[in-house]
Amino acid sequence: MSLKILGTGSALPKKVVTNDDLAAFLDTNDEWISTRTGIRERRVLSDETLQSLAEQAGKNALECAGVAPEEIDFVLVSTVQAETLSPALACDIQPALGLKCMGMDINGGCTGFIAALSVAEGLIASGRAKKLLVISAEALSRFADWTDRSTCVLFGDAAGAAVVGEGEGLRDIRFASEPRREVLCASTPPGNSPFAVDPKPAQYLKMQGQEVYKFAVSHSFKDIRDMLSAHELQPEDVDFYVLHQANMRILEGVRTRLKVDAERFPHNIERTGNTSSATVPVLLDELNRAGKLKPGCRVILNAFGAGLCTGTALIEF
Ligand code: UT7
Repeated sequence: MSLKILGTGSALPKKVVTNDDLAAFLDTNDEWISTRTGIRERRVLSDETLQSLAEQAGKNALECAGVAPEEIDFVLVSTVQAETLSPALACDIQPALGLKCMGMDINGGCTGFIAALSVAEGLIASGRAKKLLVISAEALSRFADWTDRSTCVLFGDAAGAAVVGEGEGLRDIRFASEPRREVLCASTPPGNSPFAVDPKPAQYLKMQGQEVYKFAVSHSFKDIRDMLSAHELQPEDVDFYVLHQANMRILEGVRTRLKVDAERFPHNIERTGNTSSATVPVLLDELNRAGKLKPGCRVILNAFGAGLCTGTALIEF
């Protein structure tokens, strides 16, 4: 038993931060950011919370799927940093959505949405759930270092969601990893145990951008090519490649190596920046709401990030 996507949703904070807004307090400019990354603006939490974004995205997905809250057996939230370490965001959002079921958070870095789909597939296959709500909710603005121009300009906040149920839509899902924590890392709070031998100071997100870039272009292309050949598909047999929105140059690098036209590589990075695991479901929701995910439509999802790890899924609507 595989799974089927029954509905999608998303939510963005209302605060728009343009490249010029960043140039007002950082040694950067619109020209550098837009040509090196494709990002023109991003949305950042101001008076909202990550929880309110997750709730809104989940509500939109339930409405889109026409599924009542009491039909949901399990909630999975992919996030690299929820509101609290405990309880999970997947539990905290339930009162607002009228849900009452087991919920847990998954930290798969930017690959989190695809990892959560895989867990959902397993829960459906085992008979423990018939319908699940999967949400990716990320607030990288909370642990980016806003004095470091090489990282903070890249990120934004967002939540994307999908309601999934029994069905044959998920044709395949695969993961790969190359453990390299030094390339992309953000620490948890240090704690104040009097017994800790070597307490670490709190640390903002640190990234070796070029290393992630090289990993992304080579792995995304290889993972997609392997998925296509395992299913005897040509690149043009896939309607949309919904890739993690980290850098427009990465998207273009993968697209040109696959030799497919730009219409098959949708993007919203210019408006949202990199929102970690939320990029894939937010973009999926935008395609869905634009009426582009018609029955029979074939989509490849692909994401990469901290770990380092990658995830690729082949889906038919
Ligand atoms: O979700 C997964 C997580 N992350 C990623 O996917 C990121 C992947 N990597 C990238 O997207 C790119 O490597 C970056 C956008 C992060 C950086 O682009 P780059 O073309 O690799 O630039 P660079 O790091 O080689 O830096 C080039 C120059 C440097 O100056 P010098 O040493 O050549 O004088 C940087 O100091 O650009 C400078 N620079 C900036 N200049 C203006 C770095 N950030 C900025 C900035 N504004 N914001």
